Amino acid sequence: MMTAAAAMLALTAPMLAAGGADDDTLIINEDLEITTKAAAAPHLDGHLDEVISGWHFRDDDTQAMEMDDFDNPGMIFVDQGIDQWNAVEGSEEKSCASCHGDPEEMAGVKAVYPKWNEEAGEVRTLQMQMNDCRENRMGAEPWKYDAGAAINMEALLASVSRGMPVNVAIDGPAAEAWEMGKEMYYTRYGLLELSCASCHEQNYGNYIRADHLSQGQINGFPTYRLKNAKLNGAHGRFKGCIRDTRAETFSPGSPEFVALELYVASRGNGLDVEGPSVRN
Ligand code: HEC
Ligand code: HEC
Repeated sequence: MMTAAAAMLALTAPMLAAGGADDDTLIINEDLEITTKAAAAPHLDGHLDEVISGWHFRDDDTQAMEMDDFDNPGMIFVDQGIDQWNAVEGSEEKSCASCHGDPEEMAGVKAVYPKWNEEAGEVRTLQMQMNDCRENRMGAEPWKYDAGAAINMEALLASVSRGMPVNVAIDGPAAEAWEMGKEMYYTRYGLLELSCASCHEQNYGNYIRADHLSQGQINGFPTYRLKNAKLNGAHGRFKGCIRDTRAETFSPGSPEFVALELYVASRGNGLDVEGPSVRN
């Protein structure tokens, strides 16, 4: 009881107003300028005017780590992803490279996922798509969702799309999942009755406890977090945020989180892909 009450007090204490996003510019390897602020997509009318990468809400040291691939610990996992890309596996004795060539051939793919897959009749995240290739084209075991190998591969695919604008489609057959994700975004969860929007739309720029709230964008995923010293997937992050409201949460890879990923990704349309990013 005491702990729950104390936690609630900490969370419901008035969020401290503070400076919002800073005015720094994200240039990776002194070469690749990343669009980290953009006009909000029309579907955000009345909600947000500008969309802003989470990079702008981190301190200078954390920001600097993302500006050089040698300082970005997430790039170690990209290297592991390259080894996986070239590894022959499964009954068909193929690697990703056998069919897809160099990872650079995947430039631009991360920017449009999650995406409707016509044949399967479902919205697919990048991890669902790569597991489909593993199971149905390689005869290999699927990778565990949002864990080790799947995240490494997602980081590799993100890295070859860095600097390309997020542009997920929300209309046509994807609209149903998008609506579901949107509804989740504005649903108040848990004992604290907080929605994603309570923190990431109404209070970004403010502090909650010691945390500088961002817009909760996912253009930087997968994200290397200093807190747990590993790469984190978007679904893992959603899970953590929902748990912080003292609510039951969903599992990585669940239809709920796939829909939420599509919706949250669409809130970042116009921002550049910057994964693997660095956050605290
Ligand atoms: C036997 C050939 C084959 C292998 C091996 C293979 N893929 Fe694929 N992959 C395909 C084909 C064909 C498509 C497009 C068909 C579709 O959309 O379902 C595809 C689609 C994809 C896409 C979506 C591209 C887009 O533009 O939407 C991704 C991402 C992908 N594969 C990743 C991988 C990864 C990662 C591996 C290795 C773990 C892999 N694939 C192994 C044949 C293969
Ligand atoms: C109680 C406030 C709170 C709620 C509610 C909340 N979050 Fe968060 N979230 C945070 C904090 C604090 C962080 C870490 C600082 C930051 O980036 O905002 C964070 C980080 C994130 C990030 C990482 C952003 C980045 O740039 O790496 C994403 C994505 C995210 N949240 C999504 C969500 C989604 C989706 C929901 C609803 C299911 C949600 N959050 C609900 C507080 C919250």
